[in-house]
Amino acid sequence: MPSPKDVYIAVIGAGGVGKCFLAQLEVLSARLSKTSSTKLSLIYVSRSKTVLYSPQYTALPFTDLTTKLADSKQELLSLPKIVDYLAAAPSKVILVDNTSSQDVADTYPAVLKKGISIVTPNKKAFSGSYQLWEEIFAAARESGAKVYHESSVGAGLPVISTLKELVDTGDEVTKIEGVFSGTMSFLFNSFAPTEGKGGKWSEEVKNAKDLGYTEPDPRDDLNGLDVARKLTILARLSGLSVESPTSFPVQSLIPKELESVGSGEEFMQRLPEFDSQMEETKTAAEKEGKVVRFVGSIDIAKKEVKVGLEKFDPSHPIAALKGSDNIISFYTKRYVSPLIIQGAGAGGDLTAMGVTGDLIKILERLS
Ligand SMILES: NC(=O)c1ccc[n+]([C@@H]2O[C@H](COP(=O)([O-])OP(=O)(O)OC[C@H]3O[C@@H](n4cnc5c(N)ncnc54)[C@H](OP(=O)(O)O)[C@@H]3O)[C@@H](O)[C@H]2O)c1
Repeated sequence: MPSPKDVYIAVIGAGGVGKCFLAQLEVLSARLSKTSSTKLSLIYVSRSKTVLYSPQYTALPFTDLTTKLADSKQELLSLPKIVDYLAAAPSKVILVDNTSSQDVADTYPAVLKKGISIVTPNKKAFSGSYQLWEEIFAAARESGAKVYHESSVGAGLPVISTLKELVDTGDEVTKIEGVFSGTMSFLFNSFAPTEGKGGKWSEEVKNAKDLGYTEPDPRDDLNGLDVARKLTILARLSGLSVESPTSFPVQSLIPKELESVGSGEEFMQRLPEFDSQMEETKTAAEKEGKVVRFVGSIDIAKKEVKVGLEKFDPSHPIAALKGSDNIISFYTKRYVSPLIIQGAGAGGDLTAMGVTGDLIKILERLS
């Protein structure tokens, strides 16, 4: 018989973040077994083509977990079957979604309705349709299950928890502004450094790609959608009913002519033809003594959300950012100068830290 402090953990996705999360879960589980009466049992872990789970809800050992998962011959469960399996567990369950899957995100309302809590770095559920957003939080309210997604904005940086606390304690958030993409941060800090110079745009994109800072097809970063998704989440948490990440102005840095070229390789080959466009933008900013950066902003009073290029004085914290750091500034009634959160906004271990931190918050709140 499980004790009231037994908590079952199911993990969907064991890629860059998922593997780091599983390592952190092992540490947390060992720590809790020594310091508290909470017993964590990992009962389900899956990738897109393999699954390892315990039909009897006994804990899967952490030893060689990722190898066992890769070699597993257990039959994959459909999403509705996963929900049924978890709902039948003999104690509380927390589902950890470490994918970027829209299908998994779409099942959150069904999961939460069954009293299963969710933690995730997956942006899709919170930045898709406003209807899905409402269904998720209505289901959580109805069942009392929790849903936390700190790492969906700024990886492990405490962006969402800070915004929630500002709002919940009655501060008036007037504006949120920042650099929300490590890739864009890296690109512009090298293309238009505050000390001048910087390389050609296409060369900087190639360098960022070679160093692993971009998606395999850099257009997936340059279209601005990833930043727009993060802004959608923060705008909704600030009380704006933003319909979708395409319902406000988002500046794409993909030249029109290259939007429909077949492959990422062809895109990279042809990008130098368009260097003059970005060079003009950089020079125009320099003439005003400024540098150009790719930012997102939310003006809450005006209900305006936008993503795109802006000019900043070199002394501005956004201009002075280094490497691939993110920076998020909250302008509020209480804070005379903005509350600024800055640091690495990507990376497996850092993102997993936000996920594990959310898991701990849920464990503290589960009665
Ligand atoms: N990496 C970061 O720095 C970072 C930062 C902030 C937020 N995030 C978010 O964290 C999430 C994970 O990112 P990641 O970098 O770990 O991605 P990743 O390396 O591509 O891993 C994704 C994992 O999900 C699995 N998966 C995908 N669809 C699935 C499905 N329907 N059922 C079961 N498993 C499925 C994949 O399976 P296979 O192994 O079989 O492919 C893979 O194991 C994403 O939502 C991402 O946006 C990542």
